[in-house]
Amino acid sequence: MTNFEAASGLAHDLLADALPRRWLHVQRVADKASEVSSVLAAPDRPILVAAAWLHDIGYAPGVESSGLHALDGARWLRRAGWDKRVADLVAYHSCAAFEAEERQLERELRTEFRNEASDVTDALWYADMTTGPDGQDFEIMERLTEIRSRYGPDHVVTRFWSRAQPQIIAAVRRTERRLGTRKG
Ligand SMILES: [Fe+2]
Repeated sequence: MTNFEAASGLAHDLLADALPRRWLHVQRVADKASEVSSVLAAPDRPILVAAAWLHDIGYAPGVESSGLHALDGARWLRRAGWDKRVADLVAYHSCAAFEAEERQLERELRTEFRNEASDVTDALWYADMTTGPDGQDFEIMERLTEIRSRYGPDHVVTRFWSRAQPQIIAAVRRTERRLGTRKG
């Protein structure tokens, strides 16, 4: 049982004061998820929007613990009794499985959470990966360049993005096609 409408308040409480830039990003990701949800089946829409609000709570003080924010956020949601699908989507958002490998946390992630490969997954990744750290809109290739320059070439995040790039671009392009914003 989950009150999906509680997601925005929870994200606000965990992020707005502690991590104001992250909060700007999250608000825009949630807006975008709401827009994109129109292409999903009706029962999936609140799940996507809740996952968008909550996808980065793993960065919050008191939530962060393992170094993999997707896993920490998902664990926190599971402990708090949130809908399992929302926790699963958060756990694997935006190719977190690749980062889990870099951080030797892949076994934990795969044991504890289910990787849902679906149009909902694609839509969440699209909303996250076309939104910059201050909530600005980015085309996916610009966003990947921004991440590389923010972390530098040798950082674990940059390494995992290099490997994850084909999957993330594919998820974004599939969502764009569903939205009718891209041909092909
Ligand atoms: Fe994000």
